[in-house]
Amino acid sequence: MNPVRVALLGCGTVGADVVRLLNEQAADLTARIGAPLQLVGIAVRRPARDRGDLPVDPALFTTDALDLVKRDDVDIVVEVVGGIEPARTWLVEALHRGKSVVTANKALLAEDGPTLHQAAVDGRADLYYEASVAGAIPLLRPLRESLHGDRITRVTGIVNGTTNFILSSMDATGAGFSEALDEATALGYAEADPTADVEGFDAAAKAAILASLAFHTRIRAADVYREGITEVSAADVASAKAMGCTIKLLCLAERSGDAVSVRVHPAMIPRTHPLASVSDAFNAVFVEAEAAGQLMFYGRGAGGAPTASAVLGDIVAVARNRLAGVRAASESAYADLRVRPIGEA
Ligand code: NDP
Ligand code: HSE
Repeated sequence: MNPVRVALLGCGTVGADVVRLLNEQAADLTARIGAPLQLVGIAVRRPARDRGDLPVDPALFTTDALDLVKRDDVDIVVEVVGGIEPARTWLVEALHRGKSVVTANKALLAEDGPTLHQAAVDGRADLYYEASVAGAIPLLRPLRESLHGDRITRVTGIVNGTTNFILSSMDATGAGFSEALDEATALGYAEADPTADVEGFDAAAKAAILASLAFHTRIRAADVYREGITEVSAADVASAKAMGCTIKLLCLAERSGDAVSVRVHPAMIPRTHPLASVSDAFNAVFVEAEAAGQLMFYGRGAGGAPTASAVLGDIVAVARNRLAGVRAASESAYADLRVRPIGEA
């Protein structure tokens, strides 16, 4: 049985757990796919970095990701590096060469998703990115596939774990923003530079991806109205509490006629609302569709293992497609919906 050969770009928080799961689940994955998965290369920035007890042959490490994606012995490229460039160049190259791509890179998808989708169409290749929004929660596949026969009207959710942890902590303890951020950093939720999380950029990128899939249109992060949580004070949280509410960083994407509005901002929600009970670094997303009604997706939205779980699910899907000689339907046929600025009726 010929193996399906995988190149991994990035071996940090998410990539290391992808390696662990590939190793631990090897026999089950082989049975599910119908062929073994073989890791043939891992691109990193610092090959000599101490990676603990990671079960991997050090000879697989390289710093030349572009060379790795061009190799003929690579079938699937898994990108867990992040950022716009050079990730875009690597993935476009891989797709043009007909390799299947799995990525968790929300920043790139929200900045330039159409270029990746077009490269997938041109190369007749699969492009899967379940891990890019809400970590372990199966959310994009339902939007891309299960709900495709319905008309989605609204998506509302908590899609950033770090800010949800901070706001939940402020609500539970009365702490101020800085104190709660320090706690999030100490627990490893917030990164050394937490700007993308606390200023809402991370949630805006995820909102753009969700809205693009839900409404079959092109929404970029720049189209999303964005407000972070840095101005939310302990007094704001206490006032909300006195009114029977809690403050959450919400992502809201709505369709109205031929227009779509997408926004990310802190909002007061009643404590009786299901999103109010989403605490810690969890994520939850409500999807409203004309025929299906209300659906709620809930789970771990961040962290190495939860995110690697979604990456592995995509690897299994694209590996099966390769063996069957098929690829997923393209998302290149976008409807031309207008982006409605906030405040416009
Ligand atoms: P990390 O910073 O932990 O890891 C990044 C990896 O990329 C490291 O292994 C690093 O190498 C490698 N790398 C950096 N630059 C290069 C380069 N130029 N060439 C080759 N390799 C490079 O990131 P995460 O694992 O946290 O995130 C990865 C992706 O997953 C991002 O797109 C992120 O947005 C997304 N994501 C992350 C989640 C999380 O909870 N962490 C959740 C959902 C999505 P080295 O190890 O040598 O430093
Ligand atoms: N920084 C992100 C968060 C990681 O806190 O949700 C998951 O995308």
